[in-house]
Amino acid sequence: MSNKFTGIILAAGEGTRMKSEMPKVLHPVCGRPMLSYVLDLAKELKLDQTLVVVGHKRQRLRELLLAYKAKEVHQDKLLGTADAIKRAENILRDFSGDILVLYGDQPLLRKETLQNLIQKHKETDACAAILTAYVDNPFGYGRIIRDNFGRIKAIVEEKDATKEQKSISEINTGIICFKKLPLFKSIAKIKPDNAKREYYLTDCIKIMAAQGLLIASVSLKGDVREAQGVNNRIDLAHAQKTMGLRILEKYMLEGVGIIDPEATYIDYGSAIGQDTIIYPFTIIEKDVKIGKFCQIGPFCHLRPGTVIEDNAVIGNFTEIVRSRIGRDTFMKHCSYLGDAVTGKNVNIGCGTVVANFDGKNKQKTSIGDGAFIGCDTILRAPVKIGKYAITGAGAVVTKDVKEGKVVAGVPARELQYKSRK
Ligand code: UD1
Ligand code: CA
Repeated sequence: MSNKFTGIILAAGEGTRMKSEMPKVLHPVCGRPMLSYVLDLAKELKLDQTLVVVGHKRQRLRELLLAYKAKEVHQDKLLGTADAIKRAENILRDFSGDILVLYGDQPLLRKETLQNLIQKHKETDACAAILTAYVDNPFGYGRIIRDNFGRIKAIVEEKDATKEQKSISEINTGIICFKKLPLFKSIAKIKPDNAKREYYLTDCIKIMAAQGLLIASVSLKGDVREAQGVNNRIDLAHAQKTMGLRILEKYMLEGVGIIDPEATYIDYGSAIGQDTIIYPFTIIEKDVKIGKFCQIGPFCHLRPGTVIEDNAVIGNFTEIVRSRIGRDTFMKHCSYLGDAVTGKNVNIGCGTVVANFDGKNKQKTSIGDGAFIGCDTILRAPVKIGKYAITGAGAVVTKDVKEGKVVAGVPARELQYKSRK
């Protein structure tokens, strides 16, 4: 048995039920397209190559596929899952190995599950190994038909199933490992003689079984929702919830305190240090880095490009984007920082706002170590606040403030005070 594997990810569907202009597999789950998770799986499994069958609005997927060095396979007419795989036959002419079929709309699948399936496929030397699941409500899925000895004989789709078959609770998750030659030989025999008039990939199983070829299976244990496909925005919200919880659990096991996982939203691709505590109603988007011993939230929104160094306190009703917050800095209430950098030990008073957008461009702000920004200060960017400088409450700062100086008023003017040091 070969150890070479090609992954084929099916992603040509229109995703009609999403009711969206955007291709279904690009809809984000925890801040990134659901297809990225499937492409990641292929990468983590070290498959020899990954092909993605694309059709509907395929130009919009190109950038993502290039980033993963995945090859596009075009399917212009959606004639069914067997036809989708057939489109890859030419590219695979010289490939001798096995094929793992994945779906672009199953972002929750785990690597371990697929490793088990691949393992089973190898051990049994089966022509096909199917990932199945036992579910309470099998409606909509293909049902696994077994004979009296428990051997798989066929997969019957919902629309073609008899009443008796509909009561079977073992379903086809869609994920199947195939040996290449029997796969394409059986695909050639498939006819669209079914309720949907489509070429069903699942018909391969019936054809192989009739030839006496071995069909193996692995059934999902634990949370069977990991194989749930996203078909509409309700499924999308479920996927978001499940993936979000996985992210939070990973952080908690690494020593990050999450007061209420039900009310904390952290995107994929952030980093948070040990002993940092995240209070409820906090949203942390991708590309956010938070150090150790910080307090974040409640009601805090950290957007991409935010870096928060150790020991900082970012409190209620705060929003930060594309900014760096130095260690031991406090920004405890009702403030907005965008495109700003603060030094260490800075105090950002309640109501501080960086006016970073001049109507055309985003402008930068920097605040030196130990500076004290008084309540309700507006910093009109671009502007630099020197180390240990002070702005008075309600100041509108339109010009740079030198180290150790005190400014106040609208627009802010320098006062003859000595600043603290
Ligand atoms: C399919 C399986 C079913 C399984 C279920 C699991 C078949 C015939 N049925 O049903 O047994 O229980 O998935 O979710 O395979 N696609 C293409 N080109 C096509 C048709 C589909 O790329 O011509 C893609 C879709 O974008 C989607 C995937 O294949 O990602 C599955 O297609 P879909 O039509 O949703 O199949 P189901 O009816 O859900
Ligand atoms: Ca589906």
